[in-house]
Amino acid sequence: MGGMSLPCLNLADLGTGHPETKAAPCSLIHETMADVMTQGLRDALEAERAIEPASNLRISWEELLEDARRCTRCGLYQYATQTVFGEGPLDASIMFVGEQPGDQEDLAGRPFVGPAGALFDAALEKAGIDRSTVYVTNAVKHFKFVLRGKRRIHNRPDAGEITACRWWIEHERELIRPPLTVALGATAARSLVGKVVTISKVRGEPLRLADGSECWVTAHPSSILRAPDEEARREGRRLLVRDLRLIKARAQELAWNR
Ligand code: URA
Repeated sequence: MGGMSLPCLNLADLGTGHPETKAAPCSLIHETMADVMTQGLRDALEAERAIEPASNLRISWEELLEDARRCTRCGLYQYATQTVFGEGPLDASIMFVGEQPGDQEDLAGRPFVGPAGALFDAALEKAGIDRSTVYVTNAVKHFKFVLRGKRRIHNRPDAGEITACRWWIEHERELIRPPLTVALGATAARSLVGKVVTISKVRGEPLRLADGSECWVTAHPSSILRAPDEEARREGRRLLVRDLRLIKARAQELAWNR
């Protein structure tokens, strides 16, 4: 796909600015972090390349990644450290889609490496899913936050930001063509399905996406972390593992019939 060109819209054209964070300083600290994290991302890519030789698919994916790193399709790029793109094998039979990178993901340049990632990893392990065999990405590729003192507090992406970022997830899905996609939470479900989805109504059964593949919707790991008490968190983890077991079984079925 030599030089796949992905037109990037201007923030001003889209009118999807990010007023809550307009005051956030684009400090030198960010530049220093970006340098470090870019190295982290390079290391992750190198590690993946070592186990997966270059193919046309990989080259196309890396071009997409490069384009995504320069994304200005909405205003979020102005405040985040870097684009956090998806990662994992390009022939994965399951693609997990989260909401947006959190504070730690923004710094590391990798999805689900913070507290929500730890809960996600533990649930995957309990369900018997090896994270290194699945592709993990987010509906929105830049961290959206509000500053409280020095802390960057997660701020949910709005409909305009989710829509602007569908460009990337759709291209990721076009390349990877996962037979089964998992929406972790309502933002991911909205991005994938194109409309508001109530998790409790669709949980545990597949939805059909426009390309004919299956989309399963389950809770976002952060929503479990935010549950009011330990009992609610335990129940949240149990239901997530239950969903992941169903998802694993279904992905195996789909792979056999491929
Ligand atoms: N939450 C998400 O939705 N994605 C991440 O990568 C981390 C936390």
